[in-house]
Amino acid sequence: MTLFETVFSGNDAVYGLTEGAINAAIEQHGADKAVSFPNTAYCLPCYYAVTGVKVKTLGELKEALGVVKTLMTREMRLNDVFMSGVATALCAEFIEVLKYIDGAEPYTEPCYGHLADAVIRELGVPLVTGDIPGVAVILGSAPTKEEAVALVKSYQAQGILVTLVGGVIDQVAEAGMKTGANLRVIPLGKDVTSVIHVVSVALRAALIFGNVTPGDAANLMKYTFERVPAFVNAFAPLDDVIVACGAGAIALGFPVITNQEGVSTVPKSLILQPDVSKFNATSLEARDIKIKITNIDIPVAFASAFEGEIIRRGDMQVEFDGSRVDCAELVQSAEATEIEDHKITVIGPEADEMELGSKNSIAYVVKVAGKNMQSDFEPVIERKFHNYINCIEGVYHTGQRDMQRIRISKDAFNAGFRLKHIGEVLYASVKNEFDAVVDKCEVVIYTDPAECKRIRHEVAVPTFNKRDDRLKSLTDESVDVYYSCILCQAFSPSHVCVVTPERLGLCGAVSWLDAKATNELDPNGPCQVITKEKCIDERIGEYEDVNEAVRKFSQGALEEVSLYSIMEKPMTSCGCFECICGIEPFSNGVVITNREYAGMTPLGMTFPELASMTGGGVQTPGFMGHGKHFIGSKKFMKAEGGIERIVWMPKELKEFVAERLNQTAKELYGIDNFTDMVGDETIATDPEELVAFLTEKGHPALGLDPMM
Ligand code: SF4
Ligand code: NI
Ligand code: NI
Repeated sequence: MTLFETVFSGNDAVYGLTEGAINAAIEQHGADKAVSFPNTAYCLPCYYAVTGVKVKTLGELKEALGVVKTLMTREMRLNDVFMSGVATALCAEFIEVLKYIDGAEPYTEPCYGHLADAVIRELGVPLVTGDIPGVAVILGSAPTKEEAVALVKSYQAQGILVTLVGGVIDQVAEAGMKTGANLRVIPLGKDVTSVIHVVSVALRAALIFGNVTPGDAANLMKYTFERVPAFVNAFAPLDDVIVACGAGAIALGFPVITNQEGVSTVPKSLILQPDVSKFNATSLEARDIKIKITNIDIPVAFASAFEGEIIRRGDMQVEFDGSRVDCAELVQSAEATEIEDHKITVIGPEADEMELGSKNSIAYVVKVAGKNMQSDFEPVIERKFHNYINCIEGVYHTGQRDMQRIRISKDAFNAGFRLKHIGEVLYASVKNEFDAVVDKCEVVIYTDPAECKRIRHEVAVPTFNKRDDRLKSLTDESVDVYYSCILCQAFSPSHVCVVTPERLGLCGAVSWLDAKATNELDPNGPCQVITKEKCIDERIGEYEDVNEAVRKFSQGALEEVSLYSIMEKPMTSCGCFECICGIEPFSNGVVITNREYAGMTPLGMTFPELASMTGGGVQTPGFMGHGKHFIGSKKFMKAEGGIERIVWMPKELKEFVAERLNQTAKELYGIDNFTDMVGDETIATDPEELVAFLTEKGHPALGLDPMM
């Protein structure tokens, strides 16, 4: 059979199965039965992205299958093959959605099946920063389980997100390898149709970040080809169905690498690599993926894939806990003469002198010197410690300042990992990332309890207090410049964040100080200085200089932007926002929800549904993506009255922002404990009940002018 015939035959086979499955489902449940995937605003995301039609019932699914059939032309042209590939993918999506009827949970550990919109939004920032340089789709069974593990680990060590389909899932499980989204190794499912769940991620990325219009198939494929760095590794033996799916992947711009001897190759698209140990190199080359290498001399792996790893109590060798004993982490600028570069000192017991399972003190001071170093950069560098230490395989870090918590696993300890290696990691990472400002770096790690106490209370806490005072004095009025951030343009080509002291980037990861440091480190990089000399309208925060900058950095896509309004010329969103806020008409207020909250809001929409209303670098009055820390800001939709418009938030978010929000409400309006007036899901998710609650509490939004 030729390659074309193989694709057509695989496509026909899957189509037949799909038709049978849909008919059987209709017979069983009736044509009006609802079909959907959980936690997505895009119904059947692939079908919606390709056609622009939202399928919601079995009857509509059957109609959709008729549309799929029209893609299945049988001319011997390349385009017919690609379209048959796409048709195969859509059929796979139909088969998969049937598994979810009646809220069923068809996938069990370790498999994930369908991935929520929130997962895609979370991937936004690491994908644009290159922290996740690519997405691998591994399909079938490797020749041996050792080869399967070696391949997966090779990608993991590069930070590449790995999805697994078919036999390889059992192979890595048998070899005892841990998998999960937090380790960037995601088993999707054992049926080949489950591969659609990663295709669905790529296509939703185009809708969420790229502002691609659903149904605009040409631009959809252009987007995935240019901006989604995915590729497929398909193990022999390939059957017709896998080849047909592969044609779909190639249509989206994802090369397929296989060890199937005799396959008819297509340059740059279908590549034969008989040696599985070379899959990694061949794939990266085919997709043009570059890997940043940080070589650190420690006995365990160091890669961003380990950032989300959790160490359970039973797997832990030792622990450090700032909430119980004296701990601190600190960056201190010093004179170059006071520092010996790459010197790492441990003062107090090493990890092998600590009892198994014990809780200990730790304080590490990273001293840095450099001509361009500024004390404003200290907290910027310090905040990265969390990522750095978490990237160590078998080490877990949470918290910051004097409240950090670290666990070292038994596996890491047995591999020879010691506290001095934390010093190595901090040293190498700081030198690597901040080379433009740090010329010399030295690390002192204290574990002696008395020394930790001294460092914490006499050195670290006073420094933190000083910094907090500095931060408090940083207002939009007190600085001369703002910064642009266009990091997310890799996915949202026209999106620009304007970052000010009182309005951080919507991803929550870029504060004004971060942007300033980024600009200093890389003057031609994503963060550029924006002057603010020509104010047009103080009320909504509009400046001629800001507009000019936004026009320039969005390549003309955006004309005017305000800093403080959600209704008039609001800032755009890319897609990776931590929170979204939207108008609640009954109370004259706004509802905010965050990515972690999966439940309903009084707007009748969940986070993914609300989030789908904005994004892709387009202005959408009435909806705004923003960072969590923006909620307590005096500039939060100041033009519409400010934070007193906030009528509802998920409880967890409310608790997270309470202290700052209450303080701001007190300062601006003289209201005590403002958060007590704000609804949450335990109080109401229905607008009428919410208004009743707000009325009872005398919430100020009720007395404000309507926003629309
Ligand atoms: Fe993306 Fe804006 Fe965050 Fe920059 S500040 S990374 S553009 S969301
Ligand atoms: Ni880790
Ligand atoms: Ni973004």
